[in-house]
Order: sequence, then structure tokens, then C-alpha cells
Amino acid sequence: MNRLSRSVQAPRVLNIEDLRHRAKRRLPRVVFDYIDGGAEDESTLRANCRAFEAVTLRPRCAVATPACDLRTTVLGTSVSMPLILAPVGSCRLMFPHGEEAAAHAAGEAGIICTLSTLSGCRLEDVATASGGAVWYQLYLVGGRDCALAGIDRARKAGFSALVVTIDTPVAGFRERDLRNGAKELLTGKLGPMLPFASQLLVRPRWLAAFLGDGGLMRFENVVILGKGPMLYADVTAALEQSVVTWDDLKWIRQAWNGPIVIKGIHTAEDARRAVDTGAEALVVSNHGGRQLAGVAPTLRVLPEVVSAVGDRIEVLLDGGIRRGSDVVKALCLGARAVMTGRAYAYGLGAAGGPGVSRAIEILHADLMRTLKLLGCPSIADLDRTYVDAPREWFSK
Ligand code: GLV
Repeated sequence: MNRLSRSVQAPRVLNIEDLRHRAKRRLPRVVFDYIDGGAEDESTLRANCRAFEAVTLRPRCAVATPACDLRTTVLGTSVSMPLILAPVGSCRLMFPHGEEAAAHAAGEAGIICTLSTLSGCRLEDVATASGGAVWYQLYLVGGRDCALAGIDRARKAGFSALVVTIDTPVAGFRERDLRNGAKELLTGKLGPMLPFASQLLVRPRWLAAFLGDGGLMRFENVVILGKGPMLYADVTAALEQSVVTWDDLKWIRQAWNGPIVIKGIHTAEDARRAVDTGAEALVVSNHGGRQLAGVAPTLRVLPEVVSAVGDRIEVLLDGGIRRGSDVVKALCLGARAVMTGRAYAYGLGAAGGPGVSRAIEILHADLMRTLKLLGCPSIADLDRTYVDAPREWFSK
């Protein structure tokens, strides 16, 4: 076990917050804040986490549950637990070959990994690194032809579902990125870069790994005809070109004959539209509080969405998952599984693949312990009777 792997083991790292601290120590501020930050005053980011505190657990005590079954299926794929790695852009800035490292950890753990369009590793290499089920997340950056080429590659590489993110007509106002000079650092010009360069220089180990990995990543899966992979753009600029409309979903549906997962659902109305487009799953998601500030936390709107479409489509949720008990609460309120982005991105930033594995292991152990303490024999048995949630959450 090398130094980085050791640094994320117990007792130093017991929970996701510990991984967050480790990531903060290893990464330059501009990279750490890209993972950690949200839009505007970050109140939605915090609210996503706090919403889990409003739901309390109702254990059945004096029940023996020697072996709890954490397995479930998502879109027909059998998984070791109801956790999916969410698409996270720019993982290759967090650790060399970051997306491959994350996919490998997910594959080893028997869970699904979702690759972002805004990734630095070739999607074929990510599928190989996983060896298990992988989903491809689609942004329309680069335009329709470029997206069609990406979809075709994803199909050939064996990605089993297409995740279409619909909440990025423009990037959220991510104040940390602006203050850290995310844009200036990408100009390649000394003048604009200089005021922000020290944050890279004070992380020499990260810098050496970054340079050893070829320096600034490109968007390897956004191949512009006649030009090759798109040069890295800061995410604000990339998301600006990423708007997806319900009309686009029609041609996407034609182009992809596997399951489609629509990510970025906040209301029952949009959930019904997702069903109408022929999607097989949706993700109740506010992009981890990174897009529109002031929307409701995802757990808060989950009951509304489940009651509207839960019998017609698989409902997933992301936002604020930091503990296994959070996963349990989301499942009790009707989610089939959850996605998590930051929890594993902290692990990746802290220690690469072993950090991602540690994040998954922490959530797995949490889940097992929570089920045992609840007196619940399996994931399949979780339902509303295991939680108390505010009554007004069910009024729509
Ligand atoms: C990309 O999707 C981001 O939220 O930064």
C-alpha cells in the first residue's frame, strides 16, 4: 500500500468529511473548490445535506439481521448496493487518469459509474477500466454532430445507459471558481495567470502528478470534426454550450436505443415530461446545488416526483449524500438508488483510485450497519414505515 492509499485508511479517514479534508490538503484551491463549491451563496448545496436531517429513522429493535442484502437492480443491471457514481466533470484535474481510476474502483465494488461528457479520459478506456456497468452522461457541448459521434462511441464501447442532463442552459454562478481565477488560469498567458498561480505552486505533489499526466486535459470525448478533441475550457464556458431541450430529447431518443436517464428533475411536471419522452429513469437532481440557487433540496421534492411517476419510471436522486443513512432515507422515500458525485470526488482528489474505493467502502459499511440497526433484512424491504418525514413533503 503506498503513502496515498495509507492516508485514506482508518482511523485517519472514517467518513466522507475526512476525505474532503484530505482532498483539500492535496489539491490546489481552484480544483478543490470546483468540487466543493456550489452556485451563489451555496444555500442549495447546504440545504441538500440538511434535508436528510429532517427525516428520522424508525428502527425495529430486537430483530436479528445477521446478513443484510444490499443488492438491488437499476435499469435491469444487478448492483452490489444502491449507489451510482454520478458524472463529475474534469476528474483528470483531480488525479492522473481520474475517470479511469474512479471507474475501476466502481467496477471492483460492483456498482455503476457514470462518465461525464466533460471528462479527460477516452470513454473506451473508462469502460475497460471499469470492467462492469458504465453509463455515459451527455452534454451537447460541441453541437449535435459531435454528440451523435459521442453517443455512437459510447454504444460501441458498451455503455449501457445514456444520462442526459437538462439543467444547464447556462452555468450556475459559481463564485469560488471566479475568485480562484479558474478562467484566467486557462488563458495560458502569464499576465492574467500570475495573480492566481501561487495556489498551484503550493501543491508541488499535485503539480508533479498533473504535469506527469500530460498537463491540462482535453475533452477527449468531444471530438470536433476535422479538429480533434476539444481543448479544455473552464466549465462555465462548456456548460454554456450544453443546453438540452425537450425537442433535443426526441433526436437523442432516436440515436440511442438503450435506456435513457434524464438528470435534473425538480418537479412533478418535468418528471411527467421525462416519462413522455420515453426515458426509463430520471434523477431528481439540482446538480449538487451548482446550478440554480434557491431551488428545493432534492430529498424534499423526491416524494412529489415519486407520487407523480414512480410507477412508470425508475426514480434516482442525487445531492447531499454523505452517509449510508442518507441512502437509506432516500430509498425509504421511494428512490430506487442514489447517485453521488462529491463523496467520491473528494476520495479521488485525496488519493486517486484508493480514495474512491475508500469512499465507496465507507458508504457500503454505513449502509450495512444502518440496515442492521434498523432491523431491516434487505434493501428491497426498505419503505416509508422505516422513516418519519415532514407531512407537508407529501402534500403535492
Ligand atoms: C459540471 O457538470 C459541473 O457541474 O461542473
